[in-house]
Amino acid sequence: MRFFVTTPLPEPGMTLLREAGTVVVPERSPDLAAVCASGEYDVVVAQLTDVFDADVLAGARLRGISNYAVGYDNIDVVAATRRGIRVCNTPSVLTDATADVAMLLILATARRCVEADAFVRAGRFTGWEPSLLLGGDVSGASLGLAGFGRIARAVARRALAFGMTVRCTSRRPVDEPGVERVDWDELVERSDFLSLHVPLTAETRHLVDASVLRRMKRSAILINTARGPIVDERALVEALRSGEIAGAGLDVYEDEPRLAPGLADLPNTTLLPHVGSATRSVRAKMAESCARNAIALAAGDAVRVVNPE
Ligand code: DGY
Repeated sequence: MRFFVTTPLPEPGMTLLREAGTVVVPERSPDLAAVCASGEYDVVVAQLTDVFDADVLAGARLRGISNYAVGYDNIDVVAATRRGIRVCNTPSVLTDATADVAMLLILATARRCVEADAFVRAGRFTGWEPSLLLGGDVSGASLGLAGFGRIARAVARRALAFGMTVRCTSRRPVDEPGVERVDWDELVERSDFLSLHVPLTAETRHLVDASVLRRMKRSAILINTARGPIVDERALVEALRSGEIAGAGLDVYEDEPRLAPGLADLPNTTLLPHVGSATRSVRAKMAESCARNAIALAAGDAVRVVNPE
């Protein structure tokens, strides 16, 4: 088996791959189209930052792509399927870690954690004051979850434990106790916190645009741990600047690693560098899952793929 690994995986990923076959890791950013078309590799082990669009896949001769992420919007799965390329991701292992970060962003943004930390470090803390850095309540507030997959369900469980009211949108019926399924308009208009948990697709690109931001409560906080382009980031900056919404907690950005102009200057934001799954144990589990998927793809074994049936 021959694996092309665009960026080395954490252990035990590399050991598993090396035990199964030959592993090639490029020294510098590879020409993915050439790698895919070379016919030298069974499987490319990819990062979410590696783009496999229809052009890259046009001449591809591969058995599979194993993506080191649950999201796979970096891969044109329809084009891959057309060329007989199976695609795997790493679901489940990062559910709780990502839900923790969504909850962290809810709490940190509502309670102005970043501003408070900067305040202390700047030596401005001179003693307790009745009106110092007042924030909004989390307990008793309403959380709107856009989408109700694994991560949203894990966020719902956390939010319910914090005394929040939880609503969601979902294509399927929702049977989670304490969670009400509503339509998108109701979710937008009634949520104190609106948290995004849909995959990035043509349908969800800019799902949160200027018109949605206008319909949110002025006191609302937007949370995004999914994919940046689900939000029109320039419109978000305007909405945060003008007070159309109260704040945003973001782990992902529309044009990563770049931020929309002005976003980093806004005090009512908590900004993380796409670390939803970044715990040592989760990254190791993702690496194991990704490597095992790659080996199964190379061997032609049964494996859970994301290709359409
Ligand atoms: C994913 O897996 O899709 C996250 O964005 C990174 O772990």
